[in-house]
Amino acid sequence: KNRIRTFARAVLVTVLAGGGYVVWRSYEQRHPGEQLPHDPKLPTVVVLGNGWGSTAFLKDLDNQGYNVVVISPLTVGTLASRSILEPTRFLTRHLKRKTEVYEGEVYEVDPVKKTVRFVDNSEIKGEVAGTEIPYDYLVYAVGAENQTFGIKGVKENACFLKEVWDAEKIRTRIMDCIETANFAGQTQAEIDRLLSFVVVGGGPTGVEYAGELHDFLKEDLANWYPDLADRINITLIEALPNVLPMFSKQLIDYTMSTFKENKIDIKTKTMVKEVQEKKILAMNENKEVVEYPYGLLVWATGNTARPVTRDLMSRIGDAQNSRRGLLVDEHMRLLGADGIFALGDCTATNYAPTAQVASQQGIYLARVFSKLHKKEQLLTELEQAKAAGAEPAKLDSLANAVIRASNIPPFHYSHQGSLAYIGSEKAIADLPVFQGNLAAAGFATYYFWRSAYISQLFSLRNRVLVGADWLKTKVLGRAMPRTL
Ligand code: NAI
Repeated sequence: KNRIRTFARAVLVTVLAGGGYVVWRSYEQRHPGEQLPHDPKLPTVVVLGNGWGSTAFLKDLDNQGYNVVVISPLTVGTLASRSILEPTRFLTRHLKRKTEVYEGEVYEVDPVKKTVRFVDNSEIKGEVAGTEIPYDYLVYAVGAENQTFGIKGVKENACFLKEVWDAEKIRTRIMDCIETANFAGQTQAEIDRLLSFVVVGGGPTGVEYAGELHDFLKEDLANWYPDLADRINITLIEALPNVLPMFSKQLIDYTMSTFKENKIDIKTKTMVKEVQEKKILAMNENKEVVEYPYGLLVWATGNTARPVTRDLMSRIGDAQNSRRGLLVDEHMRLLGADGIFALGDCTATNYAPTAQVASQQGIYLARVFSKLHKKEQLLTELEQAKAAGAEPAKLDSLANAVIRASNIPPFHYSHQGSLAYIGSEKAIADLPVFQGNLAAAGFATYYFWRSAYISQLFSLRNRVLVGADWLKTKVLGRAMPRTL
């Protein structure tokens, strides 16, 4: 009995301490203190983008020695997308020096004049809707856009999976397909077409999406449309012989068999050639053209450089000759330009374009900026000491400190493993532990995936919100527009 009481007390104390910590941290984060003002004598760092790279950079940055301006885009002014932008304001509000955040889209970087031009692309425009600002340093982290390989009809007919508003569009489209299939007197062939959901691209994006789509249909829609739910089919089309080529064979097989159990039809060695309004034309391994009628088409065939990035490459010329993206040195300095650092999916490096790489680069770059500031401070101190006729020993020690601060180690990527969700509360993981790769799959991996995901989020508030969202989905199901 005593043991039970001690255990209960320990649990209670832990829960109270944990709750107290969350409340205290939330209060602290919601009431940031005073910031240092803008200082015209300091260099200006312009940060482009609001993805993993720039967010990790801003979170770790000590900006006492810089005036920072962040420009991040928003192409649809929905409430949900705005709340995603909130972390940028939240993070910059917690920096030591006051930071400007502009919602806008950069369309031109001039690496010679050292300026960026950007426009307000929201629906409401003021008298000023476009401007140019100068930078001393530019942190270029604009990400990439969807690769379509110029295939006819993709841009017009497919939904993508890159920006926040893409998810909203897909959700509305799914419900539209289902309600239209349910329309009085709808023909059988049209019902089958409308309930055909096709995902093109068997990389992690396409696979995770097909898995999530299956969960949504099975866990939520089946209850609300019992007559239609069984007729819904999901097809994943992939040009290569396998999905998820970056994972081991064992994990690929596990994914394939889970998809089979979940009745997700995988068509490998099938290359989409054209997309029409209601059907896809693809070439199978026998070089035959096969038609796939669809209601919803989700396109996930990877990334390509944004127009602003291609423009920047052409301005730099010979030093930027990669078709995959921007070339940088081992310190993430853009080749052929002065004062520009590039990170994340807009770059062409040996690393995969993942959140993991971009956030490690962001953290690294924040350290680089601290070192650069430290070096500037030491140089000023050295000049002052020389002018004041300081002792040689003091001058030597300052000069050595300047050398140490100038020695910035190159970026080193530490791979923490690859994780992908495959539906039905199962995930696959390829983890670099025990000096070899540990491949794991199943339910435990799924909970590991969830906790790894939560731990990657930037603020305690976001972690609590996402955790609560998952719990809400588990208990109440996903919210369905037009039905609940
Ligand atoms: P991806 O480039 O990895 O995969 C695209 C797939 O589309 C390829 O397998 C390609 O063969 C296929 N494809 C291309 N054209 C096609 C066509 N016309 N018809 C049929 N199939 C075609 O792209 P994805 O999945 O967007 O991933 C991009 C990057 O983001 C990757 O480096 C990935 O590792 C990372 N990522 C990682 C995640 C995770 O670790 N959980 C989640 C999402 C992305």
